[in-house]
Amino acid sequence: MTNILVLHGPNLNLLGTREPEVYGRYTLADIERELTAVAQTRSARLRFYQSNHEGALIDTIHENRDWAAGILINPGALTHYSYALRDGLAAVALPVVEVHLSNVHARESFRHRSVIAPICLGQIGGFGWRSYRLGLLALLEELEVLTESKRA
Ligand code: DQA
Repeated sequence: MTNILVLHGPNLNLLGTREPEVYGRYTLADIERELTAVAQTRSARLRFYQSNHEGALIDTIHENRDWAAGILINPGALTHYSYALRDGLAAVALPVVEVHLSNVHARESFRHRSVIAPICLGQIGGFGWRSYRLGLLALLEELEVLTESKRA
């Protein structure tokens, strides 16, 4: 079993009704159901956590550092300015994939910069809820590669 911590940042609890023309109509529960279905086919176990508070997200990262093999995160607006979240992720030294529902590069200029992306394996955005699915698949495949290269 591969344990993955799935984190959602501020305002993502409102998905489904929050600016649906930008973020789509899937709720967080819908996304988590889709991810759980993917996880079942890949021998992965997921833990989900959403918070509107930077510190609560960081606490959760710390608490799961021995449990998780990797982290899938949509940091919401924290993406663009939270050095504390970035440092928290870097501190636990786990592989991280950053996802966004919208294509942040096609939106306001303040969304073009991610302070999280440099400490991630990669960033996936612009595919609506499917960004999460693609991100999870990418993370699981990368973890397999990392495990194999450690064995070799
Ligand atoms: C988001 C993009 C961020 O710029 C925004 O603040 C969000 C959602 C996305 O998933 O597209 O809250 O992370």
